[in-house]
Amino acid sequence: MLNIAVLVSGGGTNLQALLDAQARGGIHGGKIACVISSRPDAYALTRAQNAGVPTEIAVRRSFPDADAYEDALLGLFDRYRIDLIVLAGFMTIIGARIIRRYENKIINIHPSLIPSFCGAGFYGLHVHEAALARGVKVTGATVHFVNEVCDGGPIILQKPVLVEDGDTPETLQRRVMEQAEWELLPKAVSLFCEGRLSVDGSRVRIL
Ligand code: GRF
Repeated sequence: MLNIAVLVSGGGTNLQALLDAQARGGIHGGKIACVISSRPDAYALTRAQNAGVPTEIAVRRSFPDADAYEDALLGLFDRYRIDLIVLAGFMTIIGARIIRRYENKIINIHPSLIPSFCGAGFYGLHVHEAALARGVKVTGATVHFVNEVCDGGPIILQKPVLVEDGDTPETLQRRVMEQAEWELLPKAVSLFCEGRLSVDGSRVRIL
């Protein structure tokens, strides 16, 4: 069984999708060992507690610098013997030491079809605002491994979602979550835990 850490900062609907998948036996070969929040008031913490999953809080500004914060996160990963890190709406930058130590073992979910609407500044509602402003007819979500390039790591899964007339950033965000994110993230996590993801340069093969 691989131990999974889910890192959150907000509402935690993607965490909920993982918890629900785990409850119905949909995460093969892995279990959510802890949920780490960068904010003490994140509702995601309540979701974890309701599911009986241990929670930890790691607030960046409680540490003197990025290095000390990274040490704290690495300490938590060691304590829970973490094999896979899942960023599910985690709003704090993950440092280079963590990325190196967990190469191709950190998964992120992004609410667009990468390489569209991704990179610095594209987070939360901004992603959907940009998609609507550009007038795209199709958007979606991407699950990818994390490397040192923001939203630039190997792509694991993608799913398209149609933009509808009258969409607002909020309605589009909700539909991308419902139709893509909540399905893709548990699927990718399960594939990882089953050992079915093989990374070859920037390409991920599903075995
Ligand atoms: C999601 O849109 C995800 O794609 C992005 O942050 C949001 C997190 O939402 N990375 P939630 O906290 O899982 O509800």
